[in-house]
Amino acid sequence: MGEALRGLKRTIMCGELRETHVGNKYTVMGWVQRRRNLGGLEFVDLRDRSGILQVVFGEEINKEAFEKANTVRSEYCIAVTGTLVKREAANKDLPTGMVELKGESIKILSESETPPIYIKENLDAAENIRLKYRYLDLRRPDMQKIFMIRHKAGKVVRDFLDQNGFLEMETPILGKSTPEGARDYLVPSRNFPGKFYALPQSPQLFKQLLMVSGYDRYFQIAKCFRDEDLRANRQPEFTQIDMELSFVEEDDVMELNERLVQKVFKEIAGVDVKLPIERMPYKVAMEKYGSDKPDLRFGMEINDISETVKDIDFKVFQDALANGGSVRAIKAPNCASMGRKQIDKLVDFVKTYGAKGLVWVAYKEDGIKSSIAKFMNEEQTKAVLDKIQAKVGDLVLVVADKNSVVFQSLGALRLHMAKETGILENNNEYRFVWVTEFPLFSYNEEEQRFQAEHHPFTAPMDEDIQYLESDPGRVRAKAYDIVLNGEELGGGSIRIHDIKLQEKMLKVLGFTEERAWNSFGFLLEAFKFGAPPHGGLAYGFDRMIMFLAGTENIKDVIAFPKNQNAFCPLTEAPNVVEETQIKELGININN
Ligand code: AMO
Repeated sequence: MGEALRGLKRTIMCGELRETHVGNKYTVMGWVQRRRNLGGLEFVDLRDRSGILQVVFGEEINKEAFEKANTVRSEYCIAVTGTLVKREAANKDLPTGMVELKGESIKILSESETPPIYIKENLDAAENIRLKYRYLDLRRPDMQKIFMIRHKAGKVVRDFLDQNGFLEMETPILGKSTPEGARDYLVPSRNFPGKFYALPQSPQLFKQLLMVSGYDRYFQIAKCFRDEDLRANRQPEFTQIDMELSFVEEDDVMELNERLVQKVFKEIAGVDVKLPIERMPYKVAMEKYGSDKPDLRFGMEINDISETVKDIDFKVFQDALANGGSVRAIKAPNCASMGRKQIDKLVDFVKTYGAKGLVWVAYKEDGIKSSIAKFMNEEQTKAVLDKIQAKVGDLVLVVADKNSVVFQSLGALRLHMAKETGILENNNEYRFVWVTEFPLFSYNEEEQRFQAEHHPFTAPMDEDIQYLESDPGRVRAKAYDIVLNGEELGGGSIRIHDIKLQEKMLKVLGFTEERAWNSFGFLLEAFKFGAPPHGGLAYGFDRMIMFLAGTENIKDVIAFPKNQNAFCPLTEAPNVVEETQIKELGININN
């Protein structure tokens, strides 16, 4: 049985002890990393959140403590009181390595079974085991480091926003399901059988209402919920740094956020972010990088070679051009010698992005090889190589299709080739970029209708409002995404604050007046009462921490995450509930 503290107080954390503390008496508390017997002495490495301290027990130091120390095993939770002494053999790998505590008394606060995972850094254990025993996984020093970073980053953000006139306010978790977003998590209502609350996908509408209420600048480190397919950087339940400002335009929001990002990255990771952060219109990002979140740490940009190949009698090129598409290429340096099998894999790769095929030209030292040598004579091939300034050793990869397919497949191929060639290994750049001038709408081919690219409350650019109804596809938005190393860190926009414009926007999105008022009536109503111009932004806080902590898995930065199936292996949520609970909610389950 574990002993009680009975008034015993911890006087210092394990990791804090240094040579300057030698000669004093301390009480430390923590977990046994390991115990070993050496020359009749028991050495215990004691671990708490701050680090590891060596504690030594011996018959000559204190017989009773020595005997008790003999019984402790890994992960026992203990308290030790003793005098700090200089270590005979210093351990340079430990910050406390110059000293050790002579164990004069010991309390075993809790015993431990052999843990199912090792409590050590760089653990290579199956994810489901780590998540099932998450409390042990979180005991590991590298995980604890991440959550200290997370805490500190949150504090830097809060302090910065406080100093810049923001109020931290909370918004409801039980909200209203509204169309146009991702899939909602729904909560059945007991008071209104058959009706549901929705968990918020973001505080978007409430923060806009707070602007109508005159709160001027709002922020919240907000939990958001989206029932979408999960990936390495997506969780069903995630956190945003969410903000909204009144009386602002795009530049104001971006300028403030540049200073925020600069401060967080400097204070937490020692990274200098140069301001102003580069801006890139969406159109340029798509044409050069095939992505609205371009990774600018390397080149391999996309080139339009439509003009150069327009007379080549190759059906794929001709069809693409005749149908309003294009022919574009990237060049992968030092890849000309890739074998057929490897190239075939690249062809399969682009097919997953909808491309019908991939043309390649290998600029080898001993000549030029091409997958369509039959259709392109030497002069035409040379013209292509010249157009994209290919050098000996380059492998040129070409996709011809409608533009959306060309961008998507070459954009993905560009990232794939960067991985294949190891271009980014040992790269520790932080390349920020604002992507601006997004289209206000994207066209949903399946449903044959326009949908909001960001959300339906994003304002169109003033000069494009005239096309809102006549040519929605060409309307650009007052929206901006902040992108870091090819990841969308955050996004925001200036909002519509005019009821007429908001109604028009919903109409373009296919809402009847009745449905618009049913869904968003509370916002439209609010706009009748003097809504200020306003705009804002939200960061994926978890994603920000991933960068600051140097991990590519979002689960590493969330204390209790869900697995890929949105299941919690620790608590086993979601779970079956009592029949009576279901009945009370007026729900019938059909399975
Ligand atoms: P958006 O939907 O772009 O904007 O979300 C903002 C940021 O949140 C992060 N994010 C996620 N992180 C982890 N898991 C997820 N499932 C997930 N989904 C999004 C991304 C993203 O950039 N209300 C608007 C913001 C605004 O206009 O002010 C919004 O929610 O980093």
